[in-house]
Amino acid sequence: MHTGKEEELLEQSSTAQTTYWNTGTRLLHWGLALTVSFQLLISLIMEQPKPGRVLTSTQALSFEFHEWVGLAAVGVVVAHWIWSALLTRDDSGFRHLFPGDASGRAKLRAELRQILRLQLPEGGPEGGLAGLVHGLGFLAVSAMAATGAVLFFAFPENGAETALVGNVADLHSLIANLVWVYWYGHIGMALLHQILGHPVLARIFLLRR
Ligand code: HEM
Ligand code: HEM
Repeated sequence: MHTGKEEELLEQSSTAQTTYWNTGTRLLHWGLALTVSFQLLISLIMEQPKPGRVLTSTQALSFEFHEWVGLAAVGVVVAHWIWSALLTRDDSGFRHLFPGDASGRAKLRAELRQILRLQLPEGGPEGGLAGLVHGLGFLAVSAMAATGAVLFFAFPENGAETALVGNVADLHSLIANLVWVYWYGHIGMALLHQILGHPVLARIFLLRR
């Protein structure tokens, strides 16, 4: 049995099919998708300097790229926080990323029931479960950006780490596991939605409607 409020929320989400994200969010998402995916993939071939370690030019150059594209990622993440906290209310604002208010919680409950009936909720800017997962992923990426920013300014060129740099680098590596899980899960869910007929890719990636 659904309450009236939950029925209304489910009805709203069935109109999400046609809802596009606003332009600011779509540009910021392009920034996140490009820089964070690049950081994850380049980390597979780079090697950071360490005293006594001889790097191939590919390993050294890819680490150099990781530092500079990482700084760009820090810029995108900071811009996204400002956008979400101050400049947009719905869409990718806090109501989407952290649906903790009464209507957000009601939508989460309604969508969990939908999943128990083996139906995939629409997702989209209105939020709900997908919004919460985006919020958690965004927190993990923000932690990567914060630790990466410390490393950018403190990491010694000869790799002779201080205790502080070593601890921050360990934290950076640890959180990387969460970002990998998010990356695979997020792309997998986007493809599943698309296969089931929800036009999620066009809604977030197309810059012209
Ligand atoms: C690791 C890099 C990525 C991060 C951190 C990320 C994060 C996010 C976030 C936070 C949102 C909500 C909108 C916003 O607040 O900006 C979102 C939406 C979305 N992302 Fe990503 N994203 C990434 C990469 C990708 C990639 C590579 C794809 C391609 C398959 C993708 C597909 C989508 C789709 C389809 C939506 C909209 C979902 C819906 O309409 O419910 N993302 N992403
Ligand atoms: C959002 C931005 C960033 C992401 C997603 C990211 C991602 C990653 C990933 C996936 C790894 C490999 C972890 C492992 O397998 O152990 C890594 C390692 C590393 N990253 Fe980043 N990174 C970012 C920003 C930065 C920045 C700005 C710097 C600046 C110097 C940086 C410096 C490093 C270093 C030194 C390591 C090696 C850490 C170690 O293994 O001890 N990263 N990063």
